[in-house]
Amino acid sequence: MKILAIETSCDDTGIAILSARGGSASGGEADFCVLSNIVASQIKVHQKYGGVYPAMAKREHQKNLVPVLIKALKESNLLKTDLSGNFTNVKKSDISKILEREPELEKKLTPFLKKYEKPDIDLIAITNGPGLEPCLWVGVNFAKALSYFWDIPIVPVNHIESHILVNYLDLPAQAGNKNIKLPAIALVVSGGHTQIILMKKIGEYEVLGETRDDAAGECFDKAAKILGLGYPGGPIIAKLADRDPISIINRDRVSIQLPRPMINSKDYDFSFSGLKTAIFYVWKKIKLTSNFSDRSTRELIQIQMAKEIQQAIIDVLLKKTLKAAKDYKAKSIILGGGVSANQELRKQFAWYCESQRSNLNLIFPELNLSTDNGLMTAITGFYHRRQKITPSASLGRFLRKIEADGNLRIK
Ligand code: KG4
Ligand code: ZN
Repeated sequence: MKILAIETSCDDTGIAILSARGGSASGGEADFCVLSNIVASQIKVHQKYGGVYPAMAKREHQKNLVPVLIKALKESNLLKTDLSGNFTNVKKSDISKILEREPELEKKLTPFLKKYEKPDIDLIAITNGPGLEPCLWVGVNFAKALSYFWDIPIVPVNHIESHILVNYLDLPAQAGNKNIKLPAIALVVSGGHTQIILMKKIGEYEVLGETRDDAAGECFDKAAKILGLGYPGGPIIAKLADRDPISIINRDRVSIQLPRPMINSKDYDFSFSGLKTAIFYVWKKIKLTSNFSDRSTRELIQIQMAKEIQQAIIDVLLKKTLKAAKDYKAKSIILGGGVSANQELRKQFAWYCESQRSNLNLIFPELNLSTDNGLMTAITGFYHRRQKITPSASLGRFLRKIEADGNLRIK
């Protein structure tokens, strides 16, 4: 079957087309062939403000969705001009109703639907939460418009679950999915979420712990803002932290000690807002006591600060995840979400999984699949294909069947 998947939970507009065969709801051997996976990043738009503004992100999604869809269809060889003249005024008024709150998107979608014929797609998968609600709604309404107009069933997808299940894609090899031994402990760490999840099987999860305030990615982003380094903070801090420590000669060495919040608490919860505050005050003090007018001194101190910030975050993530894996006798640890793109975090998880002779398999996605993309939505939609909703004759009833939910929980 061919799945068209749409992901707009935050600031990336992702659309993917996945061809999939086999595989039961609990996993099993499946053949996947990625036909396309297009992501339009909004980083440039949000860079100026050092964070994502939902209203601005919603506007960008409205602008990006149709061009990204055209690119994804074209790359999959599924874009064909419609010569039938099927588009009627009745259909136009339905599209207007579905996209009542997304007028800019409607302006782009109507000519697209007029120009191109229904593609050879069997299922539409759409992220309906959790995430930024205005962003989620654009994607959900776009997916509903396509589903209703083309008469293709639609399946809602949980974004957190998709950060986990993207690991079932065994790329670039095409020989079926990775053999992930269950139960597994999944650590989903992104700009909006930090959760430790017990995965018993596909579709059966228990959230063991989560952040009580900021997410780990948010902490990276805010730390970078405090250090005046730009957005998004995770990759910038990681790059800085990776610079050669030998170049830090004694003259420039400063003693930086940041807290590891909740590292010894008996639960699996996190708290990163205190770390952010500590970064703010430590940085303020360093600025007062160091020669910041000298560029190289400033840079060397930034490197040391970046190393300590990254390590403080890794330390708590690692300790709590390993504790959960031990307590629940997990056979695998699965990493997902933007922060799991962090090389040092991957390296330290790998080191512990191997050195402890724990028989723990460590699974993480390819780098570009750690951050948000449509492919993660497609594979999750595939495993939950039985929960599809077929567009009904009554538009009102159909529209009520899928709603965006910014606080959607994984179950
Ligand atoms: O999963 P994602 O793309 O979007 C959300 O669902 O939030 O994650 C984005 C987050 C940002 O906070 C970004 O700073 C962080 O992931 N991130 C990283 C790295 N790459 C992205 N954090 C640490 N190290 C990285 N290499
Ligand atoms: Zn995400």
